[in-house]
Amino acid sequence: MELTWENLENAVRACHGCDLCAERRNAVPGEGNRKAAVLFVGEGPGRQEDEQGRPFVGPAGQLLDRMLSSIGLNREQVFIANVVKCRPPGNREPTQEEAAACLPYLRAQFVLLRPKIIVCLGRTAAMHIVRPDIRITRERGRWVEKKGVYILPTYHPSALLRDETGQKKREAWQDLKSLREKMRELGLYEEP
Ligand code: URA
Repeated sequence: MELTWENLENAVRACHGCDLCAERRNAVPGEGNRKAAVLFVGEGPGRQEDEQGRPFVGPAGQLLDRMLSSIGLNREQVFIANVVKCRPPGNREPTQEEAAACLPYLRAQFVLLRPKIIVCLGRTAAMHIVRPDIRITRERGRWVEKKGVYILPTYHPSALLRDETGQKKREAWQDLKSLREKMRELGLYEEP
């Protein structure tokens, strides 16, 4: 089958590649600008995402929107996807098997989008995109280049919502500024 956005979304919505399909209401393929230079990758849909079939629309998503806006970006300028496209029950982490079954969809999204920058939101995204043993607290904010694509591991917005000391929020703000800087460097940033 030809790889197009429509075919990919239809395949995701009809997928029975792992057990997560049993309890989903809606698969969440991802959304955003199909010409975006920047791809954000989260872990997997939560309750609201499962209800709406859209990524990052719950509390973590509202924070992600504010994070984007703090550096002059919005959802229409980026693409937002997840490692797994169906909600793990109770928002548990996806298993290795679930992630492995779903990763071909994310890879197809890389092929269609050809992003210049990938932001890994949290450990699950970073371990599948950067390195399986990545330590997010230690390695966040450090750019990794793979095949000409710049990858930035940072905290998941849900971790920031749980952050009581404010330390992670301060570090995430550094990471956002670093993203804006990299976009400027690569000529991808439109000053608001
Ligand atoms: N958390 C994620 O990792 N992805 C979503 O889409 C929503 C919450």
